[in-house]
Amino acid sequence: AANGHDFKVADISLADYGRKEITLAEHEMPGLMAIRKEFAASQPLAGARIMGSLHMTVQTAVLIETLVALGADVRWVSCNIFSTQDHAAAAIAVGPNGTPDNPQGIPVFAWKGETLEEYWWCTEQALTWPNTPTGGPNMILDDGGDATLLVHLGVQYEKDGKVPAVETAESDEHRVILQTLHRTLAENPQKWTQLASEIRGVTEETTTGVHRLYEMQRDGELLFPAINVNDAVTKSKFDNKYGCRHSLIDGINRATDVLIGGKTAVVCGYGDVGKGCAESLRGQGARVIITEIDPICALQAAMDGYQVTTLDDVVETADIFITTTGNKDIIMAADMAKMKHQAIVGNIGHFDNEIDMAGLAKLPGIVKDEVKPQVHTWTHPDGKVLIVLSEGRLLNLGNATGHPSFVMSNSFADQTLAQIELFTKPDEYPTDVYVLPKHLDEKVARLHLDALGVKLTTLRPEQASYIGVQVEGPYKPDHYRY
Ligand code: NAI
Repeated sequence: AANGHDFKVADISLADYGRKEITLAEHEMPGLMAIRKEFAASQPLAGARIMGSLHMTVQTAVLIETLVALGADVRWVSCNIFSTQDHAAAAIAVGPNGTPDNPQGIPVFAWKGETLEEYWWCTEQALTWPNTPTGGPNMILDDGGDATLLVHLGVQYEKDGKVPAVETAESDEHRVILQTLHRTLAENPQKWTQLASEIRGVTEETTTGVHRLYEMQRDGELLFPAINVNDAVTKSKFDNKYGCRHSLIDGINRATDVLIGGKTAVVCGYGDVGKGCAESLRGQGARVIITEIDPICALQAAMDGYQVTTLDDVVETADIFITTTGNKDIIMAADMAKMKHQAIVGNIGHFDNEIDMAGLAKLPGIVKDEVKPQVHTWTHPDGKVLIVLSEGRLLNLGNATGHPSFVMSNSFADQTLAQIELFTKPDEYPTDVYVLPKHLDEKVARLHLDALGVKLTTLRPEQASYIGVQVEGPYKPDHYRY
């Protein structure tokens, strides 16, 4: 832009529409708005340069402007090629006081329908800070761990002195990451080491990203401390469950408008996301079948009244298939070949490796056709059609707008408090993976009670001492599971 404010969005003229939806969302995000008020004077994030990689939606816009209200300097990207809401991105680029002709907001690099090359270019842009010694952020706010991954891979390859050949990359995505690293290291062979040296920590939003962090920590590769925001109770037991209960069927409806009642729906995985998805499909009158590998979750599903069986058992008869596992290779091409005409296949887990899209594309004689963006039919030689949502990427953000504001207010209040913890108390968090302290988890829940008219009972001191807690909390031991 003319004033030197750098950003890339689909259509800056959507800013006004985005701003109106952000204003509506603010009322539904009482946790974030209370945090803005509480920390307005003390500015705990002054001096923080936060690089965010998290779906650029209306709700995320309220998070970004909360971080800014607490003093942070922010650059942002989406963590998925399909998940940006273009009007939200435009409003963030323009800012509350700018206009499309004179944008004054936040450097944001995100649009719906990026290519993989564009996606990793955007990630690199958001990690590249103008006018700072190391040219990078000092905090990362991640969802799925892609920003953290790029920094760690960069450092690893600088140490090894070479980046593996692009030609032998194991996947398209891996190829693009390697290309990005080849390019950045040619420009500055110390780029990632310098950049990592200033990063105080990362706060990670989702199950899959957290999984990556614990692996790096186990292997001695983690370069800076991390807070596992996902496993805050007010995150995974709310966003993953009640968020998906809302946004799964929103995605299916917007994509297909098929009547869910009376259909047979298979939900693969009965963790937090699976529980919410199963409940939403049952709420629409579907007959829901669960697949699980964990006996505890399988037993939970059975106790909740669902049939639990293998995919093999139901692949030929069910109407709707949803993967929620965070694992790979859940629905393979051979499974899809057995499904019935106009079966719907979608994934709500973080990455696109749950459904074997590459294998589907290789089935002899198969023809892909676009019904509309993020909705494709795959026609087999015998005329049978499958409907695949968001090309196997998370459908609640690809086909709909992700979780609604109120539930995200919980997740993002956790994120904001986690950022404040890591940024302001570096001595208390040597490099390791932490969960949010329980008093902050309870605080986030408390911030959302008034809006729902919840009246909380206050412990009497003798009751508190009888169960061994303080009147003001925390109320549960760390091992309690809710
Ligand atoms: P979780 O670990 O609670 O649940 C996953 C479940 O899948 C587990 O119970 C596991 O036993 C089961 N599973 C693993 N392999 C399986 C297989 N081969 N067949 C059947 N079941 C299998 O994880 P959570 O929190 O439910 O997250 C799941 C995924 O969803 C993650 O990738 C997470 O990052 C993502 N996520 C997506 C959201 C969205 O808005 N789309 C929101 C929150 C999380």
